[in-house]
Amino acid sequence: MRILFVTGNQNKVAEANGILSPLGFVVEQLLIGGEVPDLIEPQSDEIEEIAKFKLEQAVSLSMGTEFENEALLVEDSGLFIDSLSGFPGPFSSFVHETIGLSGILSLMSGETDRTAEFRAVAAVSLQGNMLTSTGICRGVISEKISGESGFGYDPIFIPKEANGRTCAQLPSHEKSAISHRGFALKGVSELLNLPSK
Ligand code: IMP
Repeated sequence: MRILFVTGNQNKVAEANGILSPLGFVVEQLLIGGEVPDLIEPQSDEIEEIAKFKLEQAVSLSMGTEFENEALLVEDSGLFIDSLSGFPGPFSSFVHETIGLSGILSLMSGETDRTAEFRAVAAVSLQGNMLTSTGICRGVISEKISGESGFGYDPIFIPKEANGRTCAQLPSHEKSAISHRGFALKGVSELLNLPSK
C-alpha cells in the first residue's frame, strides 16, 4: 500500500520509508500541484492535537485530487527535556530554528538531570478513518554536539539503548529501530493491517 506523507522534511520521508517498506508499505511525499501542501500549525501544547489538526487539513486539501482515496500520513514530533519541564516539546521546531542546539546545551549547562525523550505522533487517514499512534524514545541530552547524520536534535540526543552515541552517530537503521518515529510508524502500520480497516 502507498502512504503519502504530508511533510516538507525529506529526512522524515527517508526514515519512514526505511521503517515501513520492510512492512510492505511505500512511503512517498505528498505533493499537490507539485508543491508540499501548506498546513497551518495550530496553537496547542499537545503534539497529538497538532498531528490530528494537520491531518484534517491535508484530507480537505486532497479532496477532488487524484489522492483523495489514498492513505495520508502526518507526523508531529518533539524533544521533551525533563529538567526543563518538557521544554521545548511542541515548540521544538521554533526553538531549533532560533536558539538551536547550542542554545539547548547552554540551558542545560551544569544540569545533572539530563534525561529527555523524543515523542512522535503519527496520524494516518484512510477512507474516512483516522488512526493515530505515539512513539517515545527515552535518553539523555549530551554534553556536546556529536555526529553528522540525521537531522534536528539528533546531534545532542543519546537514546538509552545507543551505548553513549547520539542519534546523529547511529546508522539510520539503528536509529529507526529505537526511535520515537520508528515506534509511532510501526504502530500505525499495525492498525492499517487490522482486518476491519
Ligand atoms: P516537527 O515534527 O517536524 O514539527 O519537528 C519538531 C522539531 O523536532 C524539529 O525541529 C525537528 O527537527 C525535531 N525532530 C523531530 N524528529 C526528530 C528526530 O528524529 N531527530 C531529531 N530531531 C527531530
